Amino acid sequence: MSLKITVIGTGYLGATHAAAMAELGFEVLGLDIVPEKIDLLRRGEVPMYEPGLRELLRRHVAGIEGATGRLRFTMDWAEIAEFGDVHFVCVNTPQKYGEYAADMSYVDAAFASLAPHLTGPALVVGKSTVPVGSADRLAAYLAEHAPAGADAELAWNPEFLREGFAVEDTLHPDRIVVGVRSERAEKVLREVYATPVGEGSPFVVTDFPTAELVKTAANSFLATKISFINAMAEVCEAAGGDVARLAEAIGHDDRIGKKFLRAGIGFGGGCLPKDIRAFMARAGELGADQALTFLREIDSINMRRRGLMVEMAREAVGGSFLGTRVAVLGAAFKPDSDDVRDSPALNVAGQIHLQGGQVTVYDPKGMDNARRLFPTLGYADSALEAVRGADVVLHLTEWREFRELDPAALGEVASTRLLLDGRNALDPQVWRQADWTYRAMGRPTA
Ligand code: UGA
Repeated sequence: MSLKITVIGTGYLGATHAAAMAELGFEVLGLDIVPEKIDLLRRGEVPMYEPGLRELLRRHVAGIEGATGRLRFTMDWAEIAEFGDVHFVCVNTPQKYGEYAADMSYVDAAFASLAPHLTGPALVVGKSTVPVGSADRLAAYLAEHAPAGADAELAWNPEFLREGFAVEDTLHPDRIVVGVRSERAEKVLREVYATPVGEGSPFVVTDFPTAELVKTAANSFLATKISFINAMAEVCEAAGGDVARLAEAIGHDDRIGKKFLRAGIGFGGGCLPKDIRAFMARAGELGADQALTFLREIDSINMRRRGLMVEMAREAVGGSFLGTRVAVLGAAFKPDSDDVRDSPALNVAGQIHLQGGQVTVYDPKGMDNARRLFPTLGYADSALEAVRGADVVLHLTEWREFRELDPAALGEVASTRLLLDGRNALDPQVWRQADWTYRAMGRPTA
């Protein structure tokens, strides 16, 4: 008989994982403690913008016409425990307020709610990004609080999905990492992931600490790559080089690779910034802080980018934002997402606004979230409207829609044809042909 799966926490990770498990053929029950989220999901709607996720949900959510009915949602912990052979814990671990460390309260609460209901054999699988050592602690917690005792086992299976590609990354992961303590746990997870493994996804079996560390190490490496190229951008600014050509050239070396070498205003979002900070905090607790002091520099380089973008814009409008109109294209922390958490684009927009500029923001999907976070900024319904009357245009999130803009049409409505590309993603040639002054970060000579 096929395994029955539950997914605890239906945010980005959980909603995607639940839908993907149903797509793989399993019966799935999802749980969240927020009633509004459950209501939305039951109707086959998604609480965030993620390409392909709504379609996937609607293919499986029970009660939707034509759906397989393999995916249901509940708020009842007893029902979850009763239903599932495998329980995936997908709740978030944000940065603690005023500290670097990760806030484990949602994970701990999920285990506290689930454990007393586990009366029979079950595998609880942590997916949340947690400080190394958490799995050991949570395994001990389960052993103590689950009536099933040793029959309720823990495994750790970090998630590597990227926002904007969440469905693709979940159905076709580039690797599956499982931290296990028994052959039984490994066997269950091999069964869960039989389809992607059959299609070639590597299946890496480790102990608990290694599985937890794989996640934070991967995100730290990605953050380091981005800050590395942004540090080169600073040097290019000083030396008169072109960081985009530099990235292209070093990227031809297979050992370096082309990906994640786009210089600009740096990384943001709900993962990389908080993950490198939580990693430093945890290393400190373990007495290994020296090993990760470089991440402090990675963080500083990254945060400096936002300030440098503001400076570049201030200089471009003649030294002060007072009385100037600034168009900001982009609010989401990256394209194909409506997520504005720690968004570099909104950070830059906010700083300029606080320095007296009149800022108008447009983003294809992130408008509602941006308005909630920064209600004092101006918002327009289209790129054209944002640019109308602007003294300078800032390109801060590299949506395809912005690459397809018609520079001539924007030139008609802009007050000054001055474009600053904070993502090195627009074609300078095309904009210059339409009489725009194009300037990008780290490319004084481009
Ligand atoms: C990141 C990781 O890429 C995922 O593998 C991981 O699973 C996820 O965090 C997580 O921990 O859950 P995500 O936050 O969706 O995924 O975003 P990324 O695609 O990594 O982009 C992060 C930021 O870096 C964005 O603001 C992006 O604009 C910026 N970036 C990316 C650059 O500035 N330059 C680049 O070359 C690439």
